[in-house]
Amino acid sequence: MISRQTIDEIRNRIDIVDVVSDFVSLKRSGQNYKALSPFTNEKTPSFYVVPSKGIFKDFSSGKGGDGITFVMEHEGMSYVEALKYLAKKYGVEIREDDRTPEDLAAQSERDSLYIVMQFAKDYFKETLHEHDEGKSIGLSYFRERGFNDRILEKFELGYSLNEWRHLHDAALKRGFSEAVLEKAGLIIKKEEKVYDRFRGRVIFPVHNLSGKVVAFGARILTKEKDQPKYINSPETDIYHKSQVLYGLYQAKNEIRKYDFCYLVEGYTDVISLHLSGIENVVASSGTALTEEQIRLMRRFTENVTVLFDGDAAGIKAALRGIDLVLKGGLNVRVVLLPDGEDPDSYSKKLGSSKFQEYLKAHTKDFISFKIELYSADAAKDPIKKAELIRDIVTSITAIPDPLKRTVYLQECSKKLEVPLSILSIEVKKILLAGKVNEAKADQRRVAEDVLSTSLAEVHTLSKSFLLSVEESLSLFEKEFIKVLINLGHLKASDDEYAYEYLFRESQDVDFQVPIHQEIVDHYKVEVTKGNSMKPDTFLKAIPQEDASYISGFLVQKYYISEGWKKHHIYIGDEYAVEHSAHKVIMQLKLGIVLKMVNDNLQKIKEATTKKEQDELLVIQTRIDGFKNAIASELGRIVLPNLKQFQDQ
Ligand code: UTP
Ligand code: MN
Repeated sequence: MISRQTIDEIRNRIDIVDVVSDFVSLKRSGQNYKALSPFTNEKTPSFYVVPSKGIFKDFSSGKGGDGITFVMEHEGMSYVEALKYLAKKYGVEIREDDRTPEDLAAQSERDSLYIVMQFAKDYFKETLHEHDEGKSIGLSYFRERGFNDRILEKFELGYSLNEWRHLHDAALKRGFSEAVLEKAGLIIKKEEKVYDRFRGRVIFPVHNLSGKVVAFGARILTKEKDQPKYINSPETDIYHKSQVLYGLYQAKNEIRKYDFCYLVEGYTDVISLHLSGIENVVASSGTALTEEQIRLMRRFTENVTVLFDGDAAGIKAALRGIDLVLKGGLNVRVVLLPDGEDPDSYSKKLGSSKFQEYLKAHTKDFISFKIELYSADAAKDPIKKAELIRDIVTSITAIPDPLKRTVYLQECSKKLEVPLSILSIEVKKILLAGKVNEAKADQRRVAEDVLSTSLAEVHTLSKSFLLSVEESLSLFEKEFIKVLINLGHLKASDDEYAYEYLFRESQDVDFQVPIHQEIVDHYKVEVTKGNSMKPDTFLKAIPQEDASYISGFLVQKYYISEGWKKHHIYIGDEYAVEHSAHKVIMQLKLGIVLKMVNDNLQKIKEATTKKEQDELLVIQTRIDGFKNAIASELGRIVLPNLKQFQDQ
């Protein structure tokens, strides 16, 4: 247990702005500071730091608290971990109260993973610098690649001996359990056998934002064909590959300073750039960039320069990276290296200052990059040019900020010599296509909503066996109204609106609840007048009491944008609408038939002659036939009304 005194001392030293700034780029806002929430993917800042109170508040996630809470939330640390981190940051010596065995046992599992990873990192470093094999193989490899001592230390590079259980044995000797080694991904257990994951490889530790080692990448040095070039740590409780950027810990201050960040492919690319004096660089490490990684980057800068190899694979990766980064709301620029070169080879070839100059001179905005990439083809071929335009406009459309989109469109218009108006139309088409897809999904959701509530209601009520025929019929009528109001204005098929279908199928129906009949009549009148049948417009057109009855079961979230109408976009997915309309008609018919059954049974009971009774029984059989047909189409068994049977 950390002593009370130590905790108080840490609390006294904490400067909330300073603590938060290690993870988030704060902008001053009056007395306070503001930033994009590090906890959600927001577009406008709602994360506040209030230095006078020593607290932060994040309105988009609802999180808030003091500096300790912030570190816990942000880094996923326990209270003790956060205290230790802050103690180190502020040079507070930790004094511990005596720990009970229970305290030790209760130490969080993540705590122990961090500790064993730190042990492994130190062990790999020591092996690189002290052990004969480490020096002769690992260190000489790094030296050959021009890695100096400063770089080795900054990235905490190491070496793992070419032995089966060297780390394993050393760790056990130090009191670590096999279980924790396995959980950390450092050893592999297979059918009774236990061995180190990383053997005979140079080691690149991966740090989280607070500088703790959470994973390793291990590069092979020989040319064995059946071996992967890198072996990486598996996902663990402290390592989620998609949420980590290699080099960010070492780069974060420089990224803030220059307000932009190079994005490269791998471990050695990051290090090569550092060697060339460029330290604002991160790598996604062999995977396609993820949304979480972009969000992480966005906390330090909004400007990314993608720097990829000049070969076909590099170009492909760069193109994919561009769209992802744009979608994440960042500004993207691109540098392509000459064919066959990667950052390592090319920086060596040119030397630091020439390489830096090259990067500056060849950084392009993504539009110019794409134009150049396709320019040879596009110049001659109008079809290729059209493709190029669409490709670039698609990228621009991915930008969330409309203002930025406009700026890029103007740029694109100038460079491609295409009128802005044509490009704008293209953007609208793409945006609209996206919206139509959304609308289709939305429509289906609403239809399912309407259906599921009504059926659920009917089920519970009829299950209780207490629902009278009148009650169930009025319930079915209500469902009919519900679907009519919510979906009536949508197409149920190519040539029919849902309301048309509903009215056609219910033309002989007299609604037993007066207000239902009234609403249906209003609807028919409005339709005849040619008025819009959208729920909100309809509500305004009818008497107040009818409107308030309806608004109780209006599905509020459903609205069709005026934009689609203007563009004559016809929203498909009638299936969901048709399905709901059909179901509700079937229910209504079922309700009516059940009432007929009921009335007929009553008549049978009251019949005075045998002949009369027989005639009524024939009718009864026919109605039963209807009832069963409808029920089977509805896909459920109709429960008889028990009260009736008991009465008989
Ligand atoms: P590269 O093959 O370009 O490796 O893969 P590199 O880091 O540039 O190494 P050198 O310069 O050839 O020595 C780029 C990145 O892809 C991931 C690693 O993160 C690597 O840094 N990778 C590659 C793997 O994870 N596993 C592999 O087998 C290969
Ligand atoms: Mn490479």
